[in-house]
Amino acid sequence: MRTALLSDWLAQRIDKADIAPLYRQLQDALRQAILLHELAPGRKLPSSRLLATELGIGRNTVIQVYEQLALEGYVQAGTGSGTFVADSAPDTRFAGVTLPQPTASTQPLSARGRRLLDAAGVSRRQWGAFVPGVADVTRFPSEVWSRLQSRRMRNLQPELLSYAPPGGHMPLREVLAEYLRSARGVRCHAEQVIITTGIHQSVDLAVRLLSDSGDEVWTEDPCYWGVRSVMQASGLQLRSIAVDAEGINPSEADLARPPRMMLVTPSHQYPLGMVMSLARRRMLLEYARQTQSWIIEDDYDSEFRFASRPLGALQGMDEADRVIYVGSLGKILYPGLRVGYMVVPPALAEPFALALAELFREGQSLQQAVLADFIEQGHFGAHIRRMRHVYGQRRELLMQAIATHFGADWPVHGDEAGLHLVLGLPDQVDDQLVAQAALAAGIATRPLSAYYSGGASRQKGLLLGYACVPDAEIASAFAVLAAVVKALGV
Ligand SMILES: Cc1ncc(COP(=O)(O)O)c(C=O)c1O
Repeated sequence: MRTALLSDWLAQRIDKADIAPLYRQLQDALRQAILLHELAPGRKLPSSRLLATELGIGRNTVIQVYEQLALEGYVQAGTGSGTFVADSAPDTRFAGVTLPQPTASTQPLSARGRRLLDAAGVSRRQWGAFVPGVADVTRFPSEVWSRLQSRRMRNLQPELLSYAPPGGHMPLREVLAEYLRSARGVRCHAEQVIITTGIHQSVDLAVRLLSDSGDEVWTEDPCYWGVRSVMQASGLQLRSIAVDAEGINPSEADLARPPRMMLVTPSHQYPLGMVMSLARRRMLLEYARQTQSWIIEDDYDSEFRFASRPLGALQGMDEADRVIYVGSLGKILYPGLRVGYMVVPPALAEPFALALAELFREGQSLQQAVLADFIEQGHFGAHIRRMRHVYGQRRELLMQAIATHFGADWPVHGDEAGLHLVLGLPDQVDDQLVAQAALAAGIATRPLSAYYSGGASRQKGLLLGYACVPDAEIASAFAVLAAVVKALGV
């Protein structure tokens, strides 16, 4: 392209009225000319003075663009001799190599990626009536938190802004160990407590370190889709084991094929809400000991029991170091905090802490330090007590609303505990359709049948989270939901 042609070509691509700065437009246009071979390698570019005149722009703009293109390797500036298009032809080292034909697939995702997304259950709405599993974040004691955070900021220790040490900030591990020992009956020392970003990450780490692709894992049927997805994505073979009133209920045939790990929610079955019986707990622990399988105990919301004291963790009964205990602070403080913990047997403490740092290069020590202060100074315990009262009341209000619209004997699943309950629906009802219609009316629920994945007969119902709905809105929101349910013939 001759200089006059180049100027025309560039002029067509520069608009002085455009809000994009002129130097950026010229830079993009020249870059494009080089990449499209409109300007061949070795070609001398017009002087900055000439190009500026032809385009009617400032010379400094052209100089700035030439300098930037030189930095990026598109042009070379020979001292005194002008600016030349660099020889940026692609490296031809594989020209002589016979390349295998790529497998003809229109699918950009890997098999692992597809396994993850096929089972995806996450919803876009994470707040409001009746999103399950979300704490009332408006009650979070933000003033106390902000005071503790400011104090940490004022007396900043540099290491709190660096990567976190393997396993997390030790003072937080210490106060959590103390809390878990006294409130949950967990047997642990601080070194066994590993700080993670939540239960999802804890399960992911346990799966990576204790199982191999193809190993079998038992999940409860029904169960929480999120941790199922984590396991599924890792290539584990999932076997869904039906639950009964005492918790996970493996048959003799199941027991004859020991899994590598089992994922259970003994304190509060998710989503149905029952508590695993003592007999079932003892059976599971003994089975894990004899078969050397792992039990992952998901203790996601056990702080919130309204009619009785919280039940001790299964981990506290484990004499054989087969339980990996996982918990979350998101259900107590706020989900976006993304802090959870896992308690591993002593022999696994060091490997787990190192693996976590190796994989994710954890940080957030400053936040962990604030959290440790928050727990140590008693704000955490006080917040749990306050919220237990709030949620107990909201559950009661929701139960009253259910009785008003459906009668006092309408089936409701779930102990007096946690952040949600399940409104039972008759077997012939399509609860997924009901949930869709409810969402269209502004009410978020989750269909119970979607939590099943095995052969267990799928009960129908709607998971209703009451924790993040203000007292005054529970009755009106439920009235909208009841109207939707009734309109579908229930
Ligand atoms: C049973 C169960 N386990 C784990 C989680 C997620 O925990 P985290 O937010 O700590 O990853 C949830 C969230 O709803 C849950 O219901």
